[in-house]
Amino acid sequence: MKIDIGIEEADRKLLADELSKVLADTYTLYLKTHNFHWNVTGPMFQTLHLMFEQQYNELWVAVDLVAERIRALGFPAPGTYRQFASLSSIKEEDGLPKAEGMIRRLVEGHETVARTARNVFELAERTRDQPTCDLLTQRLQVHEKTAWMLRSLLE
Ligand SMILES: [Fe+2]
Repeated sequence: MKIDIGIEEADRKLLADELSKVLADTYTLYLKTHNFHWNVTGPMFQTLHLMFEQQYNELWVAVDLVAERIRALGFPAPGTYRQFASLSSIKEEDGLPKAEGMIRRLVEGHETVARTARNVFELAERTRDQPTCDLLTQRLQVHEKTAWMLRSLLE
């Protein structure tokens, strides 16, 4: 059936393409956080192991919400590592940083998703896509709060 929600198809396509970048960033940050949960070592092990677990669980729920918004706009959601690698602005890890390096990488990751989400927000406002504005606002809250919490560990 044709989609008739008050947003033109060309705009829905633009929104889906931009949201795919948010999805790819979020998925990449999810995997990085889970990786660090597994591999963190040092005196902060217990704190970071648990903190990273809370964070990757939150990111795992978020990827579903972003992907399903893309579907509601009428387009397929990317779902392969190859697509995520080409769409994401977050670099994958080559080696394993020490605990403090992990915290820094995750701060950078959350800040990167925040910048990506903020760019999409302008498009969502212009195309009157209120549910995407709402979703992006919630994602910005989480990423900026998490970045602050991680940053605070370094002071
Ligand atoms: Fe675990």
